[in-house]
Formats: sequence, C-alpha cells, structure tokens
Amino acid sequence: MANCNTETMEAANNKLFQPPDDLLNSAHVQGMDNYRKMYNKSINDPEAFWGEIAKDFHWESQPSGKFFDYNFDYTKGPIFIKWMEGARTNICYNVLDRHIERGLGDKIAFYWEGNDPTDTGKITFQELKTEVCKFANVLKNLGIQKGDRVAIYMPMITELVVAMLACARLGVIHSIVFGGYSSEALASRVLDAKCCAILTADGMWRGTKLINLKTIVDGAIQLCEKSGYHVDHCVMVRHLSPDEQESEPEEGDTQPTPAKRPVKRLKINWVNSRDKWWHELMGEMNTKEGKTCDPVWCNAEDPLFMLYTSGSTGKPKGVLHTVGGYMIYTATTFKYVFDYQPDDIFWCTADVGWITGHSYVCYGPLANGATGVIFEGIPYYPDAGRYWEIVEKFKVTKFYTAPTAIRCLMKYGDDFVNKYDLSSLKVLGSVGEPINPEAWLWYYNVVGKSKCAIVDTFWQTETGGHVLTPLPGATPTKPGSATFPFFGVVPAILTAEGKEVSGPIEEGYLVFKQPWPGIMRTVYENHERFETTYFKKFPGYYCTGDGARRDEDGYIWITGRIDDMVNVSGHLISTAEIESALIQHPSVAEAAVVSHPHSVKGESTYCFIVLNEGHVMTEKLKTELKVKVRSKIGPFAQPDHIQYAPGLPKTRSGKIMRRILRKIAVGDSNLGDTSTLADESVIDLLLQHRPEEL
Ligand code: WT7
Repeated sequence: MANCNTETMEAANNKLFQPPDDLLNSAHVQGMDNYRKMYNKSINDPEAFWGEIAKDFHWESQPSGKFFDYNFDYTKGPIFIKWMEGARTNICYNVLDRHIERGLGDKIAFYWEGNDPTDTGKITFQELKTEVCKFANVLKNLGIQKGDRVAIYMPMITELVVAMLACARLGVIHSIVFGGYSSEALASRVLDAKCCAILTADGMWRGTKLINLKTIVDGAIQLCEKSGYHVDHCVMVRHLSPDEQESEPEEGDTQPTPAKRPVKRLKINWVNSRDKWWHELMGEMNTKEGKTCDPVWCNAEDPLFMLYTSGSTGKPKGVLHTVGGYMIYTATTFKYVFDYQPDDIFWCTADVGWITGHSYVCYGPLANGATGVIFEGIPYYPDAGRYWEIVEKFKVTKFYTAPTAIRCLMKYGDDFVNKYDLSSLKVLGSVGEPINPEAWLWYYNVVGKSKCAIVDTFWQTETGGHVLTPLPGATPTKPGSATFPFFGVVPAILTAEGKEVSGPIEEGYLVFKQPWPGIMRTVYENHERFETTYFKKFPGYYCTGDGARRDEDGYIWITGRIDDMVNVSGHLISTAEIESALIQHPSVAEAAVVSHPHSVKGESTYCFIVLNEGHVMTEKLKTELKVKVRSKIGPFAQPDHIQYAPGLPKTRSGKIMRRILRKIAVGDSNLGDTSTLADESVIDLLLQHRPEEL
C-alpha cells in the first residue's frame, strides 16, 4: 500500500495493542477466552447461539421447519441459505415499536447535522415511528405494496431513514442508490429492479457544491422511458429552504459565502402526473389514521432490500438481503463490535447509499435502540476539523469511518483534532479497505489519545455485516489486521489449487465455509450469477474476491482484491465498467484500466487508452474521457490518470496482461516473466508515454 514505510510497518506489526482497561472490565465480551467460548458455541451450535439472540426480537410466528439450512456446494445442487424460514416478523416493528413498548419512545434515535454547521435536528424513537407510519401510508395510497421495488436517491437526511423504514414496514423492497451516481447509473438500477417509484430530494449541498438531484432523477426517468419502462411516481423532499427562490444557480455552482446556507433555490422540473412533494403528501397524514400503520408481517426469508455493487464483468449486481437474518446479524455485530451501551452516541460517517450506511447508520443501531448521528456533509467543510467538532458537539462515544477519510484528515495535521474535546470517544472503527499502519496509529494516538479500542472491520455488501473484526474489550489488535472472525463466521485461506492452509500463509484466497445469518441470498433475479460469482471458483466455499494472509499468531490480514476491482476511497469500482464507458468515446479504440496506489484514496484508477486512427491524446480529450465516465457511472468513479497507449500488452490468445500494466502504471520496468507476450516492443513504448507528473 502507498504511504507505508516499511520500518513503521514492521514495528507496528510486532506490537500488540491490548484492549483499554475499562473495556476489558466492562465490555459485553471481556478478554480472548470469553471471545473463544462464544465463538465456539456459535460454530458448534448455530441454532442455539442465534436462537437465543432471536428471542430478543418480536416474531409473529416461529420457523415452520429447520432453524437454518443451506447448501454451499453447487456440485450438489443449487446454492441456498435459509435462516428461520417461515417465521414471521417485521424489521421496522422490531427497530421502532419494540423499543417504544419498552419505554424508549422519548429517547433520541438520531441527531441530524447538515452540511452547514448551523443546520441541526433531532428525532426521538416515537417521532420517527410516527413519520415512518405516515410515509408508509403515503406509499400505500400510491398503490405500492409488499414485494414492489422502490428506488431511493436521497441526501443524508432523516427522511432517507424514514423512507427505508416505511418500505420495510410494508414489505416493500428498497433499492437505495448512492447520491453520487449519474442519471445513467440510476436508470440502469431502476430498470434492473423495475422500481415503480423513485424517492428523492430537490438538491443537496456537499461542502460548497450544489447538486441538483431532481435533474439527475429526471434524466434517469427519461432514460427508462427510452427503454420502454415507465416510472409511476417520483416523491421529492424539499430539502433546500423555501426562501431560496429568485434565481437558480446551476449544478456545480459554489456558494458565495461558504459557511452559509444556500441563498438561491434550484430550478426544479415538474411532471404533474408523476411528481409529488413529500411534505404535501405527509401533510395529508396528520390524522389519527394517517399516523398509524400496522406492520405487514413478512417471512424471515422475504427480501428486505437490494443494493447494487460493482461486478467484475462490469454490470452491477443487485445484492439481495432478507428480513430475518439481516436483522439479527446487523443487531448482533453492532452490539459486540462497537460494544454498544445504552448511553452511547454512535456515529457512522458512511452514506446510507452504501451497505455500511444500511447496516450501521440505520438497521444495526436502531435494532439496539441506540442514538445515532446522521451527517449530511463532508469531512473537510467548512474545515478539516468538522468531524471532531461534531464528535465534541454530540459527545460521540463510538465513531466509525473509512481509512481514506483518516488519511485525508491526517494530512491537515493534528491541530484540527486537538482543538476539540474528544474525551467521550471509546471505540474507533475503520471500514472499507485495508488500513495502513500509519493511518491506524494516527487514529489510535491522535484521535483516540491512546485510550480507545480500534476495530478494523472487514466485510462486504454481500456479507451484510462485519465478518472479520476485533472486539473492543477482547481482542489485542495489530495495526492493519482485521484479526479474527465474528461469531458464526468460519474463514479459510485457500491456495490457488483450492487447498485449505491451517497455519501461517503468505497469501491466499479468503473464503468462508458456512453461512451466517446476514449473508446475501441471491443476486436479484439472477441466481446463476450469484452462484458463478461466489461459489464456482472453489466448490463448497463462499469466495470473497479478496486475498489474505495469516501470520504466526493466527491474525488475518487482508491483502486486497484478487479480481479486476479497484477500491477507490473505500468504494469498489469495476475496471470493466470504466473501460466500457471509455470505449464509448469515438476517439477510443481500446481501453485498459488498472489500480494505481494513491496516498489518500488507497487506490486510484489508471487508464491506458489506445486511440483510433487519426486521433491524438490531448488535454481536451482527457477531459472528455473523464466526463464520459462521470456521466456513465458518477463523479466518484472519474479516472485519476489517463495515459496514451500505442498498444496494449497481450498474450498470443489476445488477453490483456494487466499484471504488466499495473507495473507500467507505477513506472516499474522490472516486469517479471513476459514470455507469453505476443509483442514485447509495446512495453518500452508504454513506459515512454507515462505522464511526467507521476
Ligand atoms: C470490499 C467490499 C464493507 C463495507 C464497505 C465496502 C474491502 C472492506 C475492509 C477492511 C480490508 C476491506 C474488501 C472487500 N474491504 N473492509 N477492513 N480491510 N479491506 O463494501 O463496496 O462491498 O466492498 O472492500 O476488498 O471485499 P463493498
């Protein structure tokens, strides 16, 4: 990884960081012996282990057959995973009504902090339930019912959680699309899931940037129409303030006075038969009937939501999670990994548009009756002290963010951190990509003042919740290692031949041997792709797509993706998806995209471009190519480096040798074995054409 100086890394690797004393004596799981006891129980008798946990939840009826059943070996039949099949429940009821009945109605469910530091709000469990019931009734009135799919494309506002939970209350499947995706990316997801409605907002500010969400949604709806698909409803939250009317700044306009709220409102297109204001529909629900809505009881194995994740073939996959297993798994991981206590203030900085936000902004914390923080803005606006200002303001006790944010804030220096009182913090979490020891140590020493536990949580959209992670009162940590499996999870590291290695191993394939309740059940309407992607490489195992090593103490270290995926700022992007956007430009004959180390983002994308006859690589063309990727996927996927390529290194059978391109991208001319190359002369030419700034 970039930014890793080997000396520090070695020193850090050899040091064990013990759990803080107070957690060792107060946490749910104290010390490794207790962890091992619970872990062994979870593996030897999953039914007893999860059955006991399930008792905390409300079930309308018990499982009709086996408590849990699965097949992980496709050579023996179709892959399937079932937990508590036939038991009826409702996750919205469990995360709201259940707590209110226990007297938690007046507890704060969320503090909300806007992009602008003066914009704040809060909502109690009771108030949240009322809003959710009202919006569930709105959905019902629109004719939306159990099993229908609804797309949500919203900023980080409380209404986003209201919308998700209203869907869950009715058994409607939500498909949240991160607000950084383009019209085309949104349209392809709406089409794939055949969503009947899109829930959105007029616009949002990210730092000083104004983004017109409704225009992006309109673009997506038009693209759907072109493909012959009609979206029935679009409900829009008025998020920008009503006095911001006279003139309309264009998308991308910057605010005149950075720390102030926007002064002008966006120009909003309107289609009468389809578009509705959220507040108007909600206004009609201020009656006794409007404010109550019985939950629709669902089978534990009914779909709860789908969430698209990049696939190595380029086409995003609709990862499908179900009600019962996801509920108990996010609740349990949240409780143990963050050592949840009733007076905690929990803040996960992830956008709800990603799985981290689904599981640890919304469902996991709410399932425990926790108070959370929803933050709309970005870490360095108005300045690089923003995160720490918020921690001080709400007295956050458990904080969860991504290595890319830590590395970015580290660059601004310690003063921004030291200005604030962070003494409330107890557990600091990391997620999304490997955390390099420098960033880990900065997080531990500067943010945590050497008295907080660091939990480096490894998991995926597909796993639903944490699968490898330390527990704060139990696990001695090593900077950069995700340590050991969570309860119910059985990892293995395989050689390329598929052999399990039990002792230390330099590097192999990280797989899992049996399901835990929160694992995905299928790819939406494409079970074959589910089986091919995760189960065909090594029969009998779920294959993560990550490499891992195990050290002499048994600690697991994730070494990064082993497929053609790039992890940019904790977001997985498929190189094939970027390539297919690039070749749509008329100047481009061929494109190959590889990962390149980046000091803040972890990885960045490096694109080799072969041009059509008569075209030359200019700055203008580079800009056009970036715009192409922005419009096909979204701004967050914009290529970092673009290099002209007179040709690509290929094998005689025509396969691009990405291993060689990755070396060329970093200027390493020591390419290893090149004997299978069809034409070796292309290598020198590619090295010559590397951009000078690199
Ligand atoms: C991929 C999954 C999990 C929520 C956010 C990303 C990488 C994730 C870690 C970690 C090393 C990590 C893996 C994984 N990853 N967490 N703690 N250490 N790598 O969800 O977009 O589905 O990405 O992120 O490569 O496969 P996702």
